[in-house]
Amino acid sequence: MRKILVAGNWKMHGSKSMVQSLLKGLLAGSSAGGAAELAVFPSFPYLAQTESILAGSHIKWGGQTLNPNPQGAHSGEVDSEMLVDLGCHYVLVGHSERRAIYAESDVDVALRFSAARKAGLEPVLCVGETREEREAGQTESVVGRQLDAVLAAAGIAAFDSATIAYEPVWAIGTGLTATPAQAQCVHAFIRDKLSSLNGIIAGEIKILYGGSVNGSNAAELFAQIDIDGGLVGGASLTAEDFLAIYNAVA
Ligand code: 13P
Repeated sequence: MRKILVAGNWKMHGSKSMVQSLLKGLLAGSSAGGAAELAVFPSFPYLAQTESILAGSHIKWGGQTLNPNPQGAHSGEVDSEMLVDLGCHYVLVGHSERRAIYAESDVDVALRFSAARKAGLEPVLCVGETREEREAGQTESVVGRQLDAVLAAAGIAAFDSATIAYEPVWAIGTGLTATPAQAQCVHAFIRDKLSSLNGIIAGEIKILYGGSVNGSNAAELFAQIDIDGGLVGGASLTAEDFLAIYNAVA
């Protein structure tokens, strides 16, 4: 039985006071025995503060990306060991903003996935098509290609206790949510693809949906058989909005 995961990707937002009040609010409004698990993805400067507030609690945290190289001369970058040192459980890999704005290729994403695994972090592999690709009927070929790059580099065994987030680019930050049926269709495609390689791993892996998830649409999305929670951007920035999604999980 896959437990629903509600994960908040704060992107490039935050301040010390925002982190303090948001995390205190999440701790007060959720519990270890709740219907959903919670996780947050703060910007790097706030990971230490996040650790000091959340350590020992039921809420996990992670980095929004990582550099796959070992520590060395890479000014401005953060490696997997630093994330482990800051108590991270997760790290996002291949978010569409990293792919589109910072030119991360499928191969770059695969390197990051492998580096995360090697360090003992749980990668959350983000995949998804653009609006043009969907309109051209290429959704499955794009998502399939993104998965194949990681499968080729890391192997299906590396997906054991990993997480996937299907985030259609056209639904991110636009208020345009994929319908539950549209999302379910791609989630089933992803699970079937993994199932052809390893049925147990495919049955256990969480596949999150991301793209304009909020307190009003979460329940219907998460009720789909292959949707195991959400990767939330905008609505993860206040405790009230994020807890509305958490509370939507029956
Ligand atoms: P929004 O929830 O703001 O659409 O962002 C989704 C996302 O990109 C999460 O990683």
